[in-house]
Amino acid sequence: MRWDPARYAAFSDERSRPFHDLVAQIGQEAPRRVVDLGCGSGALTATLAERWPSARVVGIDSSAEMLEDAAPLAQRYPNLSFALGPIEDWAPTASDDVVVTNAALQWVPSHTSLLPGWLAAMPTGSWFAMQVPGNFDSPSHALMRAVADEGPWAAALSGVLRADPVLDAAGYLDLFESNDFRASAWETTYMQLLQGEDPVLDWVRGTGLRPALAALDVADPSGSLTAEFEATYAARLRHAYPAGPHGTVYPFRRVFTVARKR
Ligand SMILES: C[S@@+](CC[C@H](N)C(=O)[O-])C[C@H]1O[C@@H](n2cnc3c(N)ncnc32)[C@H](O)[C@@H]1O
Repeated sequence: MRWDPARYAAFSDERSRPFHDLVAQIGQEAPRRVVDLGCGSGALTATLAERWPSARVVGIDSSAEMLEDAAPLAQRYPNLSFALGPIEDWAPTASDDVVVTNAALQWVPSHTSLLPGWLAAMPTGSWFAMQVPGNFDSPSHALMRAVADEGPWAAALSGVLRADPVLDAAGYLDLFESNDFRASAWETTYMQLLQGEDPVLDWVRGTGLRPALAALDVADPSGSLTAEFEATYAARLRHAYPAGPHGTVYPFRRVFTVARKR
């Protein structure tokens, strides 16, 4: 699936807040190596290179488009580099003292099976910090799946949008504690105040809707199926998230885990 760095960056302030809330809970002072799994275009990874200037910081992502945007940052920060590849193929090294993964593991359905192996390979005292969306049951995502199932696009979108790729906070707490990590897990719902005519559609176009947009593009390269799908979905979103006097409130629930190896 192709990513569009410019579209993802459209809400960069709103999207980056959970990252900062996540990494603020990491207590490591002088890590040797820091890994950011699913680093995207690298702007947030660069904040890790600034925070730990004596660490080697590596961002890993499977999107060539995202890493193309990240490349200039590796020139600016001597301790920062990026690697193209799937998270599924990554394995920790004995000097990975911090692993961060923000808004990425929901794209890796096997992550709950991979985590025990990753955690076992990490060194004593290392930190793992992850954040995933907790909004798969929210109207934005439930309506996306409902609309996908019911129009002329249904065959093209069959099986494309998954309903439940993440655990809840208690599930991650149990997983980390069962794998020799002392864990803290919590949820936060950010009330994003969005502007514009179809702001929730604009928001999900950058992330959760991407698999559907990619499949529709393959099914009908002319774009008319995509336009019809988006118009139907947009009408439902306007009803679910009506514009108020200050903008459209989009509740954005996220699930966080920060854990330290015993
Ligand atoms: C929503 S973006 C988050 C980017 C960044 N972590 C941030 O917080 O801004 C998700 C990123 O995960 C990457 N990604 C998705 N599946 C992946 C996989 N299996 N392996 C590596 N990267 C993946 C995408 O390419 C994308 O850059």
